Amino acid sequence: MTLLPGSHRQIVLVARPDGLPVPSNFAIRRVPIPTPSEGEMLVRTLYLSIDAGLRGRLVDASNYAASVPLGGVVRSLGIGEVLESRHEAFFPGQLLVTETGWQEYAAVGPGSTTRVIDTAIAPAPAFLGVLGISGITAHIGMMDLARVGVGETAVVSTAAGAVGSLAGQLAKAAGARTVGITGSAEKVKVCLDDYGYDACIDYRSTSDLSSALAEACPDGIDVYFDNVGAEQLDAVLASLAVGGRVVICGTMGIPPGVVPMGPRYERALLARRASVQGFIWGDHHHRNEEIVASLTERYRAGELRHRQHIVHGLEKAPVAFAELLAGQNLGKTIVSVD
Ligand SMILES: NC(=O)c1ccc[n+]([C@@H]2O[C@H](COP(=O)([O-])OP(=O)(O)OC[C@H]3O[C@@H](n4cnc5c(N)ncnc54)[C@H](OP(=O)(O)O)[C@@H]3O)[C@@H](O)[C@H]2O)c1
Repeated sequence: MTLLPGSHRQIVLVARPDGLPVPSNFAIRRVPIPTPSEGEMLVRTLYLSIDAGLRGRLVDASNYAASVPLGGVVRSLGIGEVLESRHEAFFPGQLLVTETGWQEYAAVGPGSTTRVIDTAIAPAPAFLGVLGISGITAHIGMMDLARVGVGETAVVSTAAGAVGSLAGQLAKAAGARTVGITGSAEKVKVCLDDYGYDACIDYRSTSDLSSALAEACPDGIDVYFDNVGAEQLDAVLASLAVGGRVVICGTMGIPPGVVPMGPRYERALLARRASVQGFIWGDHHHRNEEIVASLTERYRAGELRHRQHIVHGLEKAPVAFAELLAGQNLGKTIVSVD
């Protein structure tokens, strides 16, 4: 990456991706440390959450969130230590989950994602994964929207990932039979051994995913927690049970640019009286405290297993992001800024 002149480090977008984002789309810039305005806090960024959803914010296209402008700091959740506060509810020394962006210091207001964290419960990075965006998203999709039930079959894609591994464990704890779809033999093993999936399919080494799913789900698929879309969704729809629920959480399998069309699915949905629902975790922030309390209870009881893929150095954020998009992570991708 190019090093632009300045004084605290930020990573900015310098070119819109042509295809999947690559490190040369970003540059490091040095600028003065910001001064918080009335109602804001100055935080020092400790950890960054690396999220697939950023892909949609780097392009100039219609999306659920505004695009990062060219030359703008890359937006991101992170964990920051409050150094100075001009807000009555926050104090120096507190650790916050907040919208830090890819930068070493940030002046932040108390946005809808801002939460004070307690490292007596778990180490700070867990609040970006199992007790943060990943756990909350898994809970909203699997429990609130799909309402998975006892004896049902739940299929999860990106099954070994940050969100997927938790969605699978929540479904299992709710009494479902769980089937994962993931991208390597190593990840299949982790899904079976660590996350308690009843079966798991390596989609990269399976020539016929529809048949593999039909075999793994002989009674049909009641719930599909979809992080991928594309051919994996097509294969799941072929085995959907009557009354099946599909929750669309992410679209890892849909390439940037022109989207190839798949089979039409209206008849499958009609015949199975099935529903498909997309969701964005940010629309459910009013549920955050309750969901995090529930996840924390399970986490403390040792009922939720999780892995973290921690990469060191702010300058590594673009590489960590590219690795996540290439499936080279195993668990929640986090950048430790210092
Ligand atoms: N709706 C929301 O509010 C919300 C919030 C947070 C996250 N999400 C979504 O949740 C999903 C998982 O996010 P995460 O942070 O937990 O990441 P993650 O699953 O830990 O990592 C991303 C994984 O995607 C898979 N992948 C990459 N390219 C793929 C491709 N072409 N086809 C199929 N799979 C591919 C890889 O796993 P394999 O090796 O198994 O293929 C990779 O490890 C993403 O789709 C993300 O956008 C949605």
